[in-house]
Amino acid sequence: MRIKIITSNAGKMREYAQALEGLGLEAFQGSVPYDEIQADTLEEVVGHGMRDLMLKEDSFIIDDSGLFIDHLNGFPGVYSAYVLKTLGNQGVLKLVEGVSERDARFECCIGCKLPGKEPFIVSASCEGFILDAPRGEGGFGFDPIFSSDGVRSFSELDMGEKNAISHRGLAVKKLAERIESEGSL
Ligand code: IMP
Repeated sequence: MRIKIITSNAGKMREYAQALEGLGLEAFQGSVPYDEIQADTLEEVVGHGMRDLMLKEDSFIIDDSGLFIDHLNGFPGVYSAYVLKTLGNQGVLKLVEGVSERDARFECCIGCKLPGKEPFIVSASCEGFILDAPRGEGGFGFDPIFSSDGVRSFSELDMGEKNAISHRGLAVKKLAERIESEGSL
């Protein structure tokens, strides 16, 4: 089955292609504009986007993700894309400069609509820490400043390693279980 990932984020797209490959799903990138509201949770953002997209498409996956930093009461969270664009990773590091409490987590919320099936949402998170300085060349977004094991940043993992533990990798596993249980594969 081929499934359209509606995203403009090339990094996300690469991760979906790899994570879905082994599940008999072929991911391809689509760019369909849809309503992205500002809301308190990723689930609300995804739910609203899905309702809008279902007027135009009969199958798709959308993904809304964010970095939630404990010391900042969960900021940037749902504002992650804007914060990355405006402050960048250096700006985020400035916000936690000298702070010893560096716990953070990535969250990923996936909205999925398959042909003839009810839409559904799955979510997963990955706990970790904000590093003192960016490290590594791989990945995208906040990957250089986030580490789940406190040793290597997400940028220093290859994609298979990241998918095995990341918020998106875990959410894709839930997605696959859900699709399998509905007999769509
Ligand atoms: P959105 O889901 O596209 O709104 O993403 C929110 C922000 O978080 C974007 O700036 C992404 O680049 C970033 N982001 C989402 N997922 C990841 C990830 O797996 N690693 C690093 N940054 C991410």
